[in-house]
Amino acid sequence: MDFDTPQLVDTFDRRINYLRISVTDRCNLRCIYCMPRKGLPKLNHAEILTYEEILRITKVAVGLGINKVRVTGGEPLARKGILTFLEELSSVREIEDISLTTNGVMVADRLQALWDMGIRRINISLDTLSRKRYQEITSTDAFYKVWHAIEKAHELGFSPIKINMVVIGGVNEDEILDFARLTLNHPYQVRFIEYMPIGPIDFNTPSRFISTKIIKQTVESLGPLIPVKSDCFDGPAQRYKLEGATGELGFISPISDHFCGKCNRLRLTADGKLRVCLLSDLALDLKTPIRSGISDRELAQLIVKAVLLKPSGHQVERDASLIPSGQMSSIGG
Ligand code: GTP
Ligand code: 5AD
Ligand code: SF4
Repeated sequence: MDFDTPQLVDTFDRRINYLRISVTDRCNLRCIYCMPRKGLPKLNHAEILTYEEILRITKVAVGLGINKVRVTGGEPLARKGILTFLEELSSVREIEDISLTTNGVMVADRLQALWDMGIRRINISLDTLSRKRYQEITSTDAFYKVWHAIEKAHELGFSPIKINMVVIGGVNEDEILDFARLTLNHPYQVRFIEYMPIGPIDFNTPSRFISTKIIKQTVESLGPLIPVKSDCFDGPAQRYKLEGATGELGFISPISDHFCGKCNRLRLTADGKLRVCLLSDLALDLKTPIRSGISDRELAQLIVKAVLLKPSGHQVERDASLIPSGQMSSIGG
């Protein structure tokens, strides 16, 4: 293997250039669709990769062509020392794009620090615009904290600010129009995400799933959806605008129109597994070999090996029993 040539291409000819790093399985919220109310057994300290280990893996992956990194959790800001870690991450020159997916509860006071280290875009999960419902969904009275963080991110100049709304039957599907209207006079990218049946078993009933087709039809009652040209920061969302709107709409359809054919990602879990697909348990353990002293070259070979394990795509819409056992909170979405 030529160690210096970027070569993360899988067996389906997809180039892998995006690493999602889950720095912790812990979260300060308990979203009903993500975690059981009493929480999940937590990984103990020794099971979690140290920041040094994460940075080492990332740098080796960067040497193989990774140039986009997203930091997730659980809630990434729930891990101690996260700002120092992000600062070190942002000093890795070859990474062209670093971003964070956060629930937004603890981010307001850290936005300036994130900005100062060069982070310019952020994804915030927000499934309702009602304080009361926010508390019901997350078990926490923090709606206004998140809203304040979104406004502050805008004041500081973050762009794009993506608001992730998972549309869930019986929970928040009656708010689709309110979220869409938000884009009329706010410069945010509101993204409607199809619910994936990966959450707590007792929550996953078929009626939870609302397809992008239905979501779009609902939004279209406000006017036609005008397609927006995609750019290099686009992930899986199809982007649109309402006539005259300041902000944008995004539709993410992991079930009804999955984007596996264009998948460019790997996921590093907090306990050191390199997962090759969100909706599959296929993963390669990096922690054990790292802790037993492998070289960077051997680590690179393991990453290449993981990439070659990537399946062509998930089959969840065909067979719900193929849902992986891992919880969303520890994979980081
Ligand atoms: P950017 O486009 O880079 O901003 O990131 P993103 O949209 O991929 O990241 P984000 O963390 O905001 O995730 C948005 C939604 O897309 C979440 O519900 C994710 O679970 C879903 N998603 C992200 N990556 C994948 C993937 O590889 N497969 C599937 N099925 N869903 C994904
Ligand atoms: N289906 C779709 N999206 C989900 N997320 C969490 N659980 C699910 C699910 N079952 C979203 C979060 C967050 C992103 C990382 O993943 O709301 O915005
Ligand atoms: Fe909610 Fe994300 Fe925390 Fe899961 S990890 S409980 S989706 S905020």
